[in-house]
Order: sequence, then C-alpha cells, then structure tokens
Amino acid sequence: MTNDTACVRIDKGRLWDSLIALGEVGAYHDQDTDLQGVCRLALTDEDVAGRELVMGWMRNAGLTLRRDQIGNVYARREGEDNSLAPVLVGSHIDSVATAGRFDGCLGVLGGLEVVRTLNDNNIFTKRSVEVAIFTEEEGVRFGTDMLGSAVAAGRIQLADARAQVDRNGISVGAELDRHALVGDVKVPIHPPYAYLECHIEQGPILAEGRMQVGVVRGVQAITWLELTITGRAAHAGATPQRLRKNAGLAAAMINVHLNDMVESGDYGQMLATVGRQDNYPNLINIVPANVLITVDLRNHDGEAMQRSIDDLHAYLAEVEKVTGVKITSRTTAQTPPVDFPEQMRDLVEKQATHLGLTCDHITSGAGHDAGEIAALSPAGMIFVPGLYDGISHNPREYSTPEACADGINVLLQAVIELANTTD
Ligand code: GLV
Ligand code: MN
Ligand code: MN
Repeated sequence: MTNDTACVRIDKGRLWDSLIALGEVGAYHDQDTDLQGVCRLALTDEDVAGRELVMGWMRNAGLTLRRDQIGNVYARREGEDNSLAPVLVGSHIDSVATAGRFDGCLGVLGGLEVVRTLNDNNIFTKRSVEVAIFTEEEGVRFGTDMLGSAVAAGRIQLADARAQVDRNGISVGAELDRHALVGDVKVPIHPPYAYLECHIEQGPILAEGRMQVGVVRGVQAITWLELTITGRAAHAGATPQRLRKNAGLAAAMINVHLNDMVESGDYGQMLATVGRQDNYPNLINIVPANVLITVDLRNHDGEAMQRSIDDLHAYLAEVEKVTGVKITSRTTAQTPPVDFPEQMRDLVEKQATHLGLTCDHITSGAGHDAGEIAALSPAGMIFVPGLYDGISHNPREYSTPEACADGINVLLQAVIELANTTD
C-alpha cells in the first residue's frame, strides 16, 4: 500500500499505447488530409469492435462490467464501502466519420489508466470508482448528441432515444438489439457521488496561452436544426427567373444570413455552422428541387441562443416569400448552457497546481457527456491542449503524450480525493 498517494503518477506510455491501439479500430485513409483517420460511428460494427477492445482491457484490470438500457458501459473497481455512491469517470469512444484518436477516447482510456495505476500501487479507495463508456455522444449517426448520457441522466426518455433513426432508417433500438448491448442497469441511473471527464480541448485557447491544463467552467448551449427546403426542379436554361423556386438559393441565403448574425455581435458569442447539405437532384443543369441543411448553433448565453433561434425562424419566413420555397424546421438537439459546480472546478485547479501544471479556466465549445451527468451529480472536466489550433473532428487532431498524461494525472489525483471523501 502506497502511503503518499500524492506522489503516484500514471503510466504515460501505457496510456499512449492504448490511445494508439484504439485508434486502429475503424481506421481509414482520409483523402482530404492524406492521414489515417478514425470512423467509429455509434453502434456500428466498428464502434462495437472498439468497445470490445476497451472492455477486454477493463476486465483485465479486474473491473466488473455492467451496461444500462441504452448500452452505456460502467466498469467498476470496488471500494471499501459499497454503500457509498461511486465516483464516475469516463466519456465516449464513438466518433464522427472523420475523427482523430483523442476525442472522447482520452476520457475513457484515461479512466482505465487511473484504475490501472490504482491497481499497480495497491491503492484502495473508500468509494468504488467506475469508468463509463457512453453511447452515441457525437450525434452524427442518429442526429442528437450526448444521447447515451442524456438517457442515463433522464433528460431524454429511453423510448425516444431508441426511436431515433440514422439516414438509412435504422433505429438506435434496432442497433442496440442487433449487438446485444442492452444491459440490466435501469435508466435514469443512480446518481454517482461525482463525475469527472478528461477531454482534449478541441480549440486553440490552452495552446495559445501556453497552458498545460484547462479547468472547465461549463459547456455552452447547443441547438441543432434540420431544415427541409422544398422548391421545384426546372430546366436551368429554359426556366426564367420569375418561374423558379430554387431550394439551393434558399439554402445559400440561410447560410449567409447565419454568418451575418454571428458577425453582427447581436447574439453574444454565437457560432453557426451549416455542416450538411443534401441537394436533389444535384445536377448541373437543374434548379435544385429539394435541399436538406443542418444548422448547428452554439452560444455561451441561453437567452441569446433563444433569440437567435427566433430570429432565424423569422428569416426563414422571409426566404419563403422571396424565393417561393417551403421550409420546415425540426429541432434535433437542444441543450442549455451548463455551469460545473465550484467545488469541482476548485478540485481540478488544486490538483493541477499540486502537480506543478499551469492552468486556465475555459468554457467548453464542444458538447460533452459531463454536461448531461451534471444533472445527476457534481460534475467537472479537465481539458488538455491540442496542436494545430486544437483542430478536432479531423484526423489532424493531436495532443502530445505529455499533454494527455498531464490531464490524466490530474484526473488520478482528483479521483483519489473524491473516492476517499465520505461526507
Ligand atoms: C460533440 O463533439 C459536439 O458536436 O460538440
Ligand atoms: Mn467528445
Ligand atoms: Mn466530438
């Protein structure tokens, strides 16, 4: 038994090797970057293969695995007092279609590395420590992000989550059943004592400030809309302007208007992205008949977010009038801004400082499972910097072995403290 747990450190090489090995599951050659990327869309065979690999490592570390009704995995290292709620750590290992190796994986494999380190050093904790793998955090396959953790926390009902479908009409429920991923842990889950997630920052702030660790204040609001624009196909050469109902033009107007809204500064720190655009019939000499676009809105301020949504809808009515198209709007994801409690931010800052790491307080631009679990328990996050402006959702995503180890050493020390707190 190690007495001075403050001196214990994780195994940087083992953490790195795990990240690299998991990155081979779902690997593909990315034409845009000419790099190896990762494609492990939620509940695909690749995602399940990734889960199997990580779950094997979890079993080898002596953890007991359970799943809940939406397929989230909880891998438990027993504490000395089973009547105490566990400390939960984790994240996700599903990815966007053009991912790197770190998004989400650092939180899950970092949680595993914490447990491996506790094992290596014969450190016993009063509370159990559980490592979670949450289902469909990315939302790119089934259309709504943080799906698994939102069901675990009770924001999204299980039946609604199971009914979500991908672009081919395949449902979450069908995929959970096909892969036999439904477990016996009922949702919403029992609140853990606390939840901590280490994640790459996915932005430039830490690297620009030469900071080693980010103490995460909270997560900004997210709204996702799917706009279906119905115009009328027509011959590109023979149809005069007055007879056109150009769905492609309407999509372009909306995209430009969103950019104008962002640049106006009238909506606080608003960001807007039209990430997907499906055109029909998508041919050079035909006026587009139908266009589907997605709108991803982010904002630190919930009130400004709502105002931007209302104003966008008013603009859609204007576009209908000007172009003659019909537009229907469906909200596919909506989360308010989340502030993590002070005691969790203080804990992360204290442990980073004890480790001699420089740190800054930042608000997350990306959505995270921690934002959902925050509804159940005190939650917090640790960010580590990335290279190349912190690019993420891209094969160029990269955090150094040192940066990853810094974040997970903070996680280790924070977990030891939380898991030995009994009040
Ligand atoms: C999740 O990665 C998000 O879109 O923020
Ligand atoms: Mn993530
Ligand atoms: Mn992501």
